[in-house]
Amino acid sequence: MQKWCLDEKGQPKIDKGAENLCMDESEICFIDGFHSKLYYRGYSIEELASNSTFEETTYLLWYGKLPTRSELNSFTEDLRRNRDIPQGAYDLIKSIPRDTHPMEALRTVASYLGNVDPEKGKLGVDSMPAKALRLTAKLPTVVAALARTRDGKEPIKPRSDLSHAANFLYMMSGKVPDNFWERAMDVSLVLYAEHEMNASSFATVVVGSTLSDYYSSIVGGIGALRGPLHGGANEEAMKQFFEIGSPENVDAWYKEYALSGKKRVMGAGHRVYKTYDPRAKVFREYSKKSVEVSKDPKIASIYGVAERLENLVMSQLCESRGICTNVDYWSGIVYYAMGIPIEQYTPIFAIARIAGWSAHLMEYVARNRILRPRLYYKGMLDLEYVPIEKRG
Ligand code: COA
Repeated sequence: MQKWCLDEKGQPKIDKGAENLCMDESEICFIDGFHSKLYYRGYSIEELASNSTFEETTYLLWYGKLPTRSELNSFTEDLRRNRDIPQGAYDLIKSIPRDTHPMEALRTVASYLGNVDPEKGKLGVDSMPAKALRLTAKLPTVVAALARTRDGKEPIKPRSDLSHAANFLYMMSGKVPDNFWERAMDVSLVLYAEHEMNASSFATVVVGSTLSDYYSSIVGGIGALRGPLHGGANEEAMKQFFEIGSPENVDAWYKEYALSGKKRVMGAGHRVYKTYDPRAKVFREYSKKSVEVSKDPKIASIYGVAERLENLVMSQLCESRGICTNVDYWSGIVYYAMGIPIEQYTPIFAIARIAGWSAHLMEYVARNRILRPRLYYKGMLDLEYVPIEKRG
């Protein structure tokens, strides 16, 4: 009995939200939520945000080491060659109703790309790196094509002479970004690339653990990321700043909604971090620089709202209850300053997080055991079956 952690009635112990469930060993990511530390493969997030690129970080996550110059060149080249999507995907994008949320549309197109992958139908880890490379390369093209189609514009084909970040911004707007905005997007992709066994990585690995195919697993991750308690929080944080409107309204809003418990502060709180999220610190610096570079008073005002609200959260919720601002609090301001519509922020998160989803999938499935938790049954037993005509 003891071996299976069952109680005297043969029932499992409840760990609501799987907070204390440690499901496996991993060498991919370490979060020290009490000391604001995050590492990918042993490298601190601050080191990677200062020095690395999304392409290099993805290589690091998948292969466990920083690439040599020739390894990085060849990996980057492979990504660039695989950027475009088949005509069928462009046609599908045009057929999706424009009022569909971009994450729900992304889920559909990612699934379709699995149907036209050259190795479709292949299960298991062997085909995963190649499939992961193809979908990681194509996801920005899908997100940009969906965004433009939603706005009634023609999709822009990817270019192979630009970085992953610059090409995405180019496909969104038709303009090649200058160095600051390219770097800001690149850093944001590095910050969002991986975060241990979060809900979307878990969803991805649960599907993968049945030995299902790579694309089905990633579609599971996209579905989990869409929710406002996970990736959708970056959109919700921006909507919250706009709802507050201006820095002078912050205190009244905080008292009315956050202190009374009527609303959660979106972009605050975390299952693992009980101190400041180190990614939020980097994003906050980029938000501040975005205000300076854009010189847009609207962005300055939204930044002012976020700054004032963060002061209240940090002095009141963070110190006493460990509810501190997280990665999704500041990221939206950077994207907003780039001119990207709010509903595209979670899809951008997905463009980055596919790196982490794929890394976990490859690691877990390589020494797989199907993920199959239990539930504590509290319903009735041995009921008598009553024929339908005799039910009251
Ligand atoms: N604002 C105000 N209160 C919050 C809060 C927030 N953002 N996040 C958590 N709390 C409070 C809850 O109301 C709860 O209070 P109670 O014990 O008095 O009922 C307590 O903190 C624990 O919350 P719980 O939902 O159990 O924590 P969790 O670990 O299950 O959830 C999140 C973690 C991230 C889902 C949660 O903090 C949240 O909803 N945050 C806002 C959404 C967000 O930013 N998500 C992005 C995460 S990167």
